[in-house]
Amino acid sequence: MRIVVLVSGTGSNLQAVIDAVADGSLPLEIAAVGADRPDTFGVERSAAAGLDTFVVNFKDYATRTDWDAALLDAVAAYKPDYVISSGFMRIVAPSFINAFAGRYVNTHPALLPSFPGAHGVRDAMAYGVKVTGCTVHFADAGVDTGPIIAQTPVTVRPDDTEDTLHERIKVAERELLIQVLADLARG
Ligand code: GAR
Repeated sequence: MRIVVLVSGTGSNLQAVIDAVADGSLPLEIAAVGADRPDTFGVERSAAAGLDTFVVNFKDYATRTDWDAALLDAVAAYKPDYVISSGFMRIVAPSFINAFAGRYVNTHPALLPSFPGAHGVRDAMAYGVKVTGCTVHFADAGVDTGPIIAQTPVTVRPDDTEDTLHERIKVAERELLIQVLADLARG
């Protein structure tokens, strides 16, 4: 199974996937890592691991449609079986979803369908939930929507900040993502 991983930020989930592939516990090939912006730690991690790394910089394109087309071309060139949105903070176009229908997987730091969007951890805390968690799902053209594959609950502690809670969610999220990828790789 070949995957392309898309990142926007620090890429800690990406690192967990890189490490699991390297130690032989995850039977897949990371064909490439792509980002929507340059100079992120995620891009650095990918390059450091010797992976094909590409940036389709949102700011370099005159229109959204041009960026959509460039992203689709860049990802499709690697002929991935699955595309993983791992902290990729952009909604992709319907053309992208169609090209990878049922093969575009997203990870999110909340128990969807609650608290979608860029601030899933903050929004869950603001609501006052006592349990939140993470979700891995097949992404469609919406914001963190599409069929859920797996979820892990994480208890909110009274003294949590957004950062401490997100860090605990990310520990669960890495494990869940790797488990889902292993299941997909094994059919
Ligand atoms: C992860 O928690 C991921 O679920 C979240 O961004 C973080 C990226 O962390 N994604 C979303 O919020 C998508 N709506 P990382 O760059 O360290 O892997």
